[in-house]
Amino acid sequence: MFGKKNKPAIDKDQLELVKNAQRRIKQKKRLYYHFVLFLIGAIVLIVLNVVLGYGEQIKLLGLNWFVWAIGLWGLLLLIHVFDVFVTSRFMGKEWEERQLEKLLAIQEARIEKMKNTLKNEELLMAEAALAEERRLNANASPKEKEQVITIIAAVAENNVIGKDNDLIWHLSDDLKHFKDLTSGHHIIMGRKTFESMPKALPNRTNVVITRQDDFSAENVIVAGSLQEALEVAKEDPQPFIIGGGEIYKQALQFTDRIELTRVHHSFEGDTFFPEINTVVWKEVDTKFHAKDEKHEYDFTFIRYEKRQ
Ligand SMILES: NC(=O)c1ccc[n+]([C@@H]2O[C@H](COP(=O)([O-])OP(=O)(O)OC[C@H]3O[C@@H](n4cnc5c(N)ncnc54)[C@H](OP(=O)(O)O)[C@@H]3O)[C@@H](O)[C@H]2O)c1
Repeated sequence: MFGKKNKPAIDKDQLELVKNAQRRIKQKKRLYYHFVLFLIGAIVLIVLNVVLGYGEQIKLLGLNWFVWAIGLWGLLLLIHVFDVFVTSRFMGKEWEERQLEKLLAIQEARIEKMKNTLKNEELLMAEAALAEERRLNANASPKEKEQVITIIAAVAENNVIGKDNDLIWHLSDDLKHFKDLTSGHHIIMGRKTFESMPKALPNRTNVVITRQDDFSAENVIVAGSLQEALEVAKEDPQPFIIGGGEIYKQALQFTDRIELTRVHHSFEGDTFFPEINTVVWKEVDTKFHAKDEKHEYDFTFIRYEKRQ
């Protein structure tokens, strides 16, 4: 009734059980033949010695030779019995799998150790890069050092910051925090972030970064690169980089401070904040805000400073 394609599927575990049962049946059958052979052999030896009188005089420690021969013969049978009922039970397939697992665990531990060594080397390299940056900063003019370039972002637990060119959550106290910090300053943003807002934000100098030569919008300064945008804001003691994902990624290396709102929830999204490397960044201030009727999620304001 079943064509080749319609054969009922036996799953892998079932197949393994069937194979195991077949192997055990074969082992026991062989043991049974061995037992029959032992009985026949023993009878033949007794007949040879006792009935036909073969080697009647041969004795060892007072026993007829056939007793020794049957004993030896029986020992082989005993070994076979032990092999079938004891050895294959304790050192069967499960035992082999356990051994394999143990070996794999040892290998995995070794790989983990190697990974940790690599990680340490990466941290050392990041520290060296930081030391180099500090050395360069030490040579910068006092004017340049006075400026605190700041990234400001609201970031989910899984680093998501947006979806379909829009924000995902609405947290009014976070918006107020954003307004309080950025008012009176330059806010630097990517073209997509600008287009996700209804218009330029009031009381701030809006700088939009784009590669488009003919881009223009009301109340914004257009910059062709992040460096150009920072140049526009060079007189501002604290210009803010307000996103999105592309701009944060490029700006991290030029930034002195991060004002992060960590939203304590994971979201699905398509834009992410880069990982914060704690070798480079030090958490200097935190303020937790529990969820309430106006705020759907818990969140924490965290200030990071680049380590000196
Ligand atoms: N949670 C938050 O705090 C937060 C904050 C801001 C934004 N967001 C979210 O982030 C998302 C937008 O981020 P995104 O990464 O898609 O875009 P984006 O960073 O806002 O803007 C990307 C655009 O910036 C321009 N650009 C980038 N690098 C440039 C460079 N080196 N030189 C010149 N122009 C450059 C390009 O514009 P052209 O294509 O015009 O050349 C590029 O398409 C949205 O979902 C938004 O809601 C979240």
